[in-house]
Amino acid sequence: MASSPLSSPVVTKRGVKVTLNLVPPEEVISHAGRLELVYCSAFGSAPWFESARQARRFILRLLDHTASSGFRLVIAEIDQQLVGFAYGRIALSRSEELEERYLPLVEWLGPVVSQSVLFETFELTEFAVATSWQGQGIGALVHDYLLTEAPCNKAWLITHALAENAQALYRSRGWRATANAGPAEEGARRTLMSISTGVGRS
Ligand SMILES: CC(C)(COP(=O)(O)OP(=O)(O)OC[C@H]1O[C@@H](n2cnc3c(N)ncnc32)[C@H](O)[C@@H]1OP(=O)(O)O)[C@@H](O)C(=O)NCCC(=O)NCCS
Repeated sequence: MASSPLSSPVVTKRGVKVTLNLVPPEEVISHAGRLELVYCSAFGSAPWFESARQARRFILRLLDHTASSGFRLVIAEIDQQLVGFAYGRIALSRSEELEERYLPLVEWLGPVVSQSVLFETFELTEFAVATSWQGQGIGALVHDYLLTEAPCNKAWLITHALAENAQALYRSRGWRATANAGPAEEGARRTLMSISTGVGRS
């Protein structure tokens, strides 16, 4: 299956022409190098301060996640340069064993909130725009396209409590903070946000 680009470049609020593509899982690997560069750029500074090694781990995680139910990746290109991306999937399923890294989150939220917010809903797993292209409306378009293509109408994400740009974007798109402090073992620096989109494709 080929990528399904939006029919023509879309123009951001700030007048930048960008092409958005929904990348099929089996084609993700062909974009790995460019995705790593964007990740490095976006997550290399405050409040994330991630290293090049963490960016490489991100690529391994992403490739692993292509096998997840409901996997969706949207990339944004300008003159064939990859400038931003977002991806998500159904990370927690009632029928599958819980991945160990989600245990603290589920314990922190408790069973009732976890069941209604996290299970069988779409996790917006990673979202980034290269630093030199930020603030031009690209992230908003990528975000909106991904949620339109999401397989469920409820979504959640975890962000850094100090990621002000990201949180401003999420709030402006209708996301609400569901829990303001993260698990104690993460230093309470994480924020869980959720949204009901009213759309969703199977
Ligand atoms: C979060 C991120 C993807 C946003 O991408 P972007 O292309 O810069 O976002 P946009 O230009 O489309 O901005 C959309 C909205 O976000 C908010 N926003 C973005 N940057 C902002 C800033 N510097 N100050 C205040 N609000 C900001 C605004 O509400 C803006 O809408 P507006 O332009 O109508 O005011 C980008 O900043 C990024 O990659 N950050 C580092 C990685 C990260 O934090 N990822 C999210 C992990 S959860």
